[in-house]
Amino acid sequence: IQAEKAGYKHFMLKEINEQPRAIRDTTLGRVSLDTGKVFLDNLAITPEEFRTANQITIAACGTSWHAGLAGKFMIERLARLPVDVDYASEYRYRDPIADPHAIGLLITQSGETADTLAAQAELIAKGSKTLAICNVVGAAITRKAAGTITTNAGPEIGVASTKAFTAQLTALFVLALHLAQVRGTISDAESLHLVDELSKLPGKVEDVLRSVDDQCQQLAKIFHNANDFLFLGRGVHYPIALEGALKLKEISYIHAEGYPAGEMKHGPNALIDEALPVVTIATKDPSDPSSVLKYEKTLSNIQEVTARSGRVIAIAIEGDEEIKHLVEHTIQIPQAAELLLPVLEVVPLQLLAYHIAVRRGCDVDQPRNLAKSVTVE
Ligand code: G6P
Repeated sequence: IQAEKAGYKHFMLKEINEQPRAIRDTTLGRVSLDTGKVFLDNLAITPEEFRTANQITIAACGTSWHAGLAGKFMIERLARLPVDVDYASEYRYRDPIADPHAIGLLITQSGETADTLAAQAELIAKGSKTLAICNVVGAAITRKAAGTITTNAGPEIGVASTKAFTAQLTALFVLALHLAQVRGTISDAESLHLVDELSKLPGKVEDVLRSVDDQCQQLAKIFHNANDFLFLGRGVHYPIALEGALKLKEISYIHAEGYPAGEMKHGPNALIDEALPVVTIATKDPSDPSSVLKYEKTLSNIQEVTARSGRVIAIAIEGDEEIKHLVEHTIQIPQAAELLLPVLEVVPLQLLAYHIAVRRGCDVDQPRNLAKSVTVE
């Protein structure tokens, strides 16, 4: 077992560090750096079906559901196709609306989660074709799907998902780009730009791994005794706030909530006091006006927290001097395209949860009451 951990103390830490490779392998052979074109030819859904689709329904559980929620932002933004994101455990109990013009998209690391398989069966029964994003070749979900995008993250052993998640985000980005190209909602120049950004992502994740680990250990030392944590984000960054909270809950047993930053004023602001760490994702892509606007709104949300003595840990872009003056701690990540920033943002959140759990003496790889793959409904 020690050998399998390749010198790391836990599988989770090893898998966090494998993310650059997982992302690279999930992109490999699927995009052309010369033309910006995406190649997903083996999906058994014709370009015509992609063009005439009126809806994508995503169903997934846990961390995969968070990937799905980020995928909604990617697909709607790039391909202008409406996306619903359902908890797989809820989907089939509400006589959902699906038809042959809707495409079902199941996201699952294991490909064996009972709830997700049940959602797939319901989609197929209603006449929808289903696609899978799955990390295990030949898993149950892939046998019923019209097509599968394999996340090439390699076997994931830690119960808390890390590298499978960033590989799912990568696969969703590639799919969103593919849909946009087939549906004619993206220019060649924009495709080229985004494919170029995608190709730089593994190197940037390496930079994050190198630059934030010590700081996350320090933050763990300061905050490991907190009773609660809040994680905030807006837009495509909101699912990352949810994922940061889930990682902390799963492995450190600290109560944590993820919230859309703009909703704080409608309730959770009442929770803020000097004991509450509030991790806020406050990144921006300066070339994207809607991203900049979101960032500015997030800064005001941060000020609402600090005015009430809440303790803010901000995830921000390198070189952002403004935010450093507003908050107690800033974790910096490199610049990237808005829809790819989530991949970079989640890495410090994984490391923060990891180091807090280790400090609290928790069993990081095998948290209590949880299973890697849940095959009951
Ligand atoms: C379990 C695992 C989670 C995972 C979820 C969905 O609850 O503990 O880490 O996110 O199942 O698993 P899947 O294999 O479908 O992605």
